[in-house]
Amino acid sequence: ALLDEATRIAREFDYPADQVQRGVDEYIKQSNEGLAKENTTLSQIPTFVTAVPNGTEKGLYLAVDLGGTNFRVCSVQLHGDTTFSLTQSKIMIPRELMASGTSKDLFLFLARQIEAFLRIHHNEHFEAHLRRRRDGNQMEDLFDLGFTFSFPVRQFGINSGTLIRWTKGFNIPDAVGHDVCALLQSAIDELHLPVRVAALVNDTVGTLMARSYTSPGETGTLVGAIFGTGTNGAYVEKLDKVTKLKDMKDAKYDTSTGEMIINAEWGSFDNHMSVLPDTIYDQQLDADSNNPGVQMFEKRVSGMFLGEILRRALLAMHNNPDLGLFKASKTSSVSLPSDSLFYRQWGLDTSLLSQVEADTSKDFVEVKAALKDHLKIENPSDAECEAVKIVVHAIGKRAARLSAVPMAAILIHTGKLETESMVDIGVDGSLVEFYPKFEEYIREALREVPQVGVAGDKKVRIGISKDGSGVGAALIALVASKDETLKS
Ligand code: BG6
Ligand code: GLC
Repeated sequence: ALLDEATRIAREFDYPADQVQRGVDEYIKQSNEGLAKENTTLSQIPTFVTAVPNGTEKGLYLAVDLGGTNFRVCSVQLHGDTTFSLTQSKIMIPRELMASGTSKDLFLFLARQIEAFLRIHHNEHFEAHLRRRRDGNQMEDLFDLGFTFSFPVRQFGINSGTLIRWTKGFNIPDAVGHDVCALLQSAIDELHLPVRVAALVNDTVGTLMARSYTSPGETGTLVGAIFGTGTNGAYVEKLDKVTKLKDMKDAKYDTSTGEMIINAEWGSFDNHMSVLPDTIYDQQLDADSNNPGVQMFEKRVSGMFLGEILRRALLAMHNNPDLGLFKASKTSSVSLPSDSLFYRQWGLDTSLLSQVEADTSKDFVEVKAALKDHLKIENPSDAECEAVKIVVHAIGKRAARLSAVPMAAILIHTGKLETESMVDIGVDGSLVEFYPKFEEYIREALREVPQVGVAGDKKVRIGISKDGSGVGAALIALVASKDETLKS
């Protein structure tokens, strides 16, 4: 009975080819709406980055990155020959700063991490700056910093933009509507750091830039995508298709390439749920989240949410008296304490799914290890392990197949499969890096879309751009610091 029910639940996560196609058609429609006007479900944010790098860029830049699993501070030396050296520190953001403090608390925390980083890695430069300051000298020789801020921001230029809304569990209401570059700069100035915030960068844009720097091809990289805590993508668009730019008369940008990188914010694709699949577990997750009704695509795809979808599906089997998954009985020797993470919202980490999916043994070695590591579950029966595996697989596969939707849509919408012999996509994030076969499942779905097909899929090169956004932020800081026309 348990396995029958697991199979039935798994089927609810089926996302067959005809639905993928419907998703692609709808994505193209919503992306055109987003290019034409503001406040659409797909934000299609103009980034004012109008050229991708070619690998010859040079210089030393700072970058900070807020919005993934860790906050990072790095300095990046671009060598100008497609290579770079990166020094970085990673810090977990304390939970209370993410969701209950003020924006001042958060940005001062970030500035303090930058200070600590400079002290360790660039102390001479820092001291020289403080000496000059004491002597009343002009402040010069500042580090240009690229600020990777991986949330939806309405950009007004390459180094300014106001926060539209928080995502991924962050919730600091007083920051919404404010210029996040200015907030960071004033925290930096409060600590007298030799740093100028030169560029505002979404992680997807950073990933695209980094990928383009490290593997320049004839056509450059078309898409940068994140499948991690959240999911999103940025792509290279023809300027004349971004018709809403005509309403942004004050924005300055270089038009010579005829292109601009657009941050799609595809996590919010189809918030009104016209085509997205919807199970009872998705509905419960959304209703209990701190942002119901938004990021509906992201809530079905990315790492922050898959563990919670799984938890809710397993909980249904646990609460069903005929099945009693993980409930001590004739069929189960598992007994969970009442404070088990299994009962707690967000209690299951997505790495559990990756670990379970990786199990190829006959006797569930990895599944058992994962249940023990994450939930302290000892001695689950084989049927229980199998049930978990069936549901995990279904949730992960649906996420990967959904991920193919924006990718296929962008390939079709830009017409690149027809005009280019190879199309490059840079990706990053814990899901695509660690979830077994995530890319394979994406490609399976891509091939099922007739306008991509087997031939199109063969042209698509997908490459991990590991820690790409630090390098990407440095590259954009470089563009911003070099080109006066780009300064807002
Ligand atoms: C990192 C990038 O490698 O991947 C970040 O540098 C990005 O900018 C992150 O946000 C996404 O992955 P995760 O899994 O940490 O959310
Ligand atoms: C969320 C953010 C988006 C970011 C993505 C990946 O969707 O809104 O800006 O790119 O997560 O980190």
